[in-house]
Amino acid sequence: MAENVLAVKTCKGKKKILIVDDYLPTRRLIIDALNQTELYEISEAENGEEALRIFATDNFELVISDIMMPGMSGMELLNRIKEKNSSTAVIMITGNPTTDLTVNAIKKGAVDFLTKPFDIDDLLYKVDIHLREKAILANNEEEESRIVEQKKILDRTAHISKQSYIYDSIEDSPLNNDAIFEKIAELALKLVDGEVCAILFFDERDNEFHPKIVKGESAELYANSMYNPALKMIFNDVIERKEAIIFNSNEHLEIAPSIICSPLMIRNSILGILSIRKKKNREIFSKNDLHHILSLTKRASLNLENKILYESIYSNIMDTLKSLISSVQARDHYTEEHSVRVTDLSIKIATAMSCSRQEIESIRIAGILHDVGKIAVPDSILLKPDKLTPEEYNVIKNHPTIGENILKPVMLLEKERKIIEYHHERWDGLGYPTGIAGKEIPFLARILTVADSYDAMTSDRPYRLGMSLEKAISEMNYNKNKQFDGDVVEAFIKILT
Ligand SMILES: [Fe+2]
Repeated sequence: MAENVLAVKTCKGKKKILIVDDYLPTRRLIIDALNQTELYEISEAENGEEALRIFATDNFELVISDIMMPGMSGMELLNRIKEKNSSTAVIMITGNPTTDLTVNAIKKGAVDFLTKPFDIDDLLYKVDIHLREKAILANNEEEESRIVEQKKILDRTAHISKQSYIYDSIEDSPLNNDAIFEKIAELALKLVDGEVCAILFFDERDNEFHPKIVKGESAELYANSMYNPALKMIFNDVIERKEAIIFNSNEHLEIAPSIICSPLMIRNSILGILSIRKKKNREIFSKNDLHHILSLTKRASLNLENKILYESIYSNIMDTLKSLISSVQARDHYTEEHSVRVTDLSIKIATAMSCSRQEIESIRIAGILHDVGKIAVPDSILLKPDKLTPEEYNVIKNHPTIGENILKPVMLLEKERKIIEYHHERWDGLGYPTGIAGKEIPFLARILTVADSYDAMTSDRPYRLGMSLEKAISEMNYNKNKQFDGDVVEAFIKILT
């Protein structure tokens, strides 16, 4: 019996795959990768029209198509292929997987995505998993329970693969919590064609639900309906069971013929619920919709939990570091005011040089802490009113390394540590502590150096008066591409003048 099955499978031959991409090197890359396995028979097309012609001549099990192509787009090709043969699996290739595009393609029947640049293992894995899924679906002779079991595993894998693209957009950006809730509601609406979506916080003390965000059509109306007793019963049920539910009823719930509610949990306790109302076309929600919403809320809960955890650890660490820096400042008031001014100037330069929000946040932290290593410099040197001897100056020169060492155990501040370590390096390599030069010095450290030096030049010290603005600018200009990165100096002078 087993031999017969094997014989049938062997007779079926290689699986037919069609690769569609206008860019020849991409087609070659995919074809070479797939040919390693000798399991597939591969055809190729350089545009949508050619792909449809080839598609009509054979029984293709899988199509891998680029989204951006001249002429017929990948999305249109996806539509046309699905019209011709809905059982053909289609994987889309994209250089830039936006949420809209991904959701759209999933709705139109794409089974998965490949993002450029390709990871060959990922490509082979996805092709294999979707072809196996098709084989299981097609093979009616197999024992039913086994099919269901296998299908479940494959579904889960494919589902995770697809959804990771969607949810990455929640995780990528350092959004505040309100923006995260907004994004979750938007995604929920897109995923299941909802009409209106609400995120409500649950207050255990008074057993009430407070709308945090309501998005979609007739949002205001829906926000008011939150206080409807029938809806509240459903919400309470979700809270009690800690499970997502789907509720389809025309009789009992006039305000919503079809509704999905899913709990938002933080560390096993209920934060609130996400509730989404009937589809725009008045159809009811399906089990698949429920599954999408459940995955979304689980992922969102995890994301919020991590964020809250991160924020509490982070603020503890920052408090400790601030107390360290204030112990330096208690001895030397110059350091205190200097750190504030340097931070302020560095942020201005970083903003003018189009740094990202994360980079500006890094420079803000590094600016405040950049001289934390001076904690190890004795008062006799740190507070000396006269010029330092070379030996004393050597002690001062240790402060970037000491500062970097202080921050070493704080894994979260990796980037900031590097800025602090290198804030006395010079573009020409004559700085300290390591003597690295040019672009070897981290960009944000080069910015801090300019701000730090300018502030040192223009501040009054016990042993000398600060320079005038004009003198400082000419000094900065003179040191372009010697002490400082010329581009940073230019950006800085533009801010000053
Ligand atoms: Fe310093």
